[in-house]
Amino acid sequence: MTVCEAPGKVYLFGEHAVVYGEPAVPAAIERRAAVTAEPRADDHVRVEAEDLSLDGFTVEYSGGTDDRPDVDVPTPLVEAAMGYVDAAVRQARDAADAPDAGFDITVESDIPLGAGLGSSAAVVVAGIDAATRALGAPLDRRELADRAYRAEHDVQEGQASRADTFCSTMGGAVRVEGDDCEPVAAPNLPFVVGFDGGAGDTGKLVAGVGELREEYGFAADTIESVGDVVRTGEALLADAVPEGEPSPELLAELGELMDFNHGLLAALGVSARSLDSMVWAARDAGAHGAKLTGAGGGGCIVALDASDATETALSFTQGCEEAFRAELATEGVRVVE
Ligand code: MEV
Repeated sequence: MTVCEAPGKVYLFGEHAVVYGEPAVPAAIERRAAVTAEPRADDHVRVEAEDLSLDGFTVEYSGGTDDRPDVDVPTPLVEAAMGYVDAAVRQARDAADAPDAGFDITVESDIPLGAGLGSSAAVVVAGIDAATRALGAPLDRRELADRAYRAEHDVQEGQASRADTFCSTMGGAVRVEGDDCEPVAAPNLPFVVGFDGGAGDTGKLVAGVGELREEYGFAADTIESVGDVVRTGEALLADAVPEGEPSPELLAELGELMDFNHGLLAALGVSARSLDSMVWAARDAGAHGAKLTGAGGGGCIVALDASDATETALSFTQGCEEAFRAELATEGVRVVE
């Protein structure tokens, strides 16, 4: 039996624009998905997931998604999560050259599903790592990240950047620009996350930005401006002391850029009333800056603040279902057992 766990992430800067080749800087947070993989004697895949739905569920099938019985999968989000488990199994079988390998898989996660915190990437990364290790064919991190990207790419029908999967694999902050992915040295940034209990439809939101970009030249300029925000933020991080405590000046400047980034995302039509309310509540409580994170439309915001005031203010904000501190996860995917 092999257990691997991989972190979720927030976008410090750059979601959506990354789809158009601009750089993005996601940062891993200490909320993890754990996947257990136990090889079986037959080619069946049995998936047990307690934390992905209120009641938990177990499903067993042979082959891939097409052979999975459409029972016991309680919600569309959980159905989507199952798609990622299938894709992880396909990648692990391919990587280990074991097309008929069967597994008992357990998924446990404390990352809200589909809310912009990289839950699917964490499941895919931990799943491929656990399954390949269980088959005695562990992957190096670059290949793991690449295979996890390909799994997301398949499930999302081509609409995926490498950002989530690379960040979840490597941990810490990373920089992604097209196919170029590199870890970025970063201080211990103090994040607070606000979650509205919902989830945006990534595909629709990405398509909506694409339509605006086609229709208006200034939407294309807005996307480029997001890239400029990212480049400015990167330069600030490059000057900071890595792994140390961030200076008040750095926090103020990064926060201002996060505010700017949120405004540009709102202009691109991907914010929501709940997200704007949480962003303003965080700023009013004294956060250095706040923005939506991920595809938007609903889900999560991320604020930069070490004080409890932001977390408390968010928990009293209408539309906020959960608020929590989220430390930077310096370690990416790891083997637990
Ligand atoms: C979704 O978490 C982030 C987007 O930029 C899409 C992607 O990068 O795949 C909206």
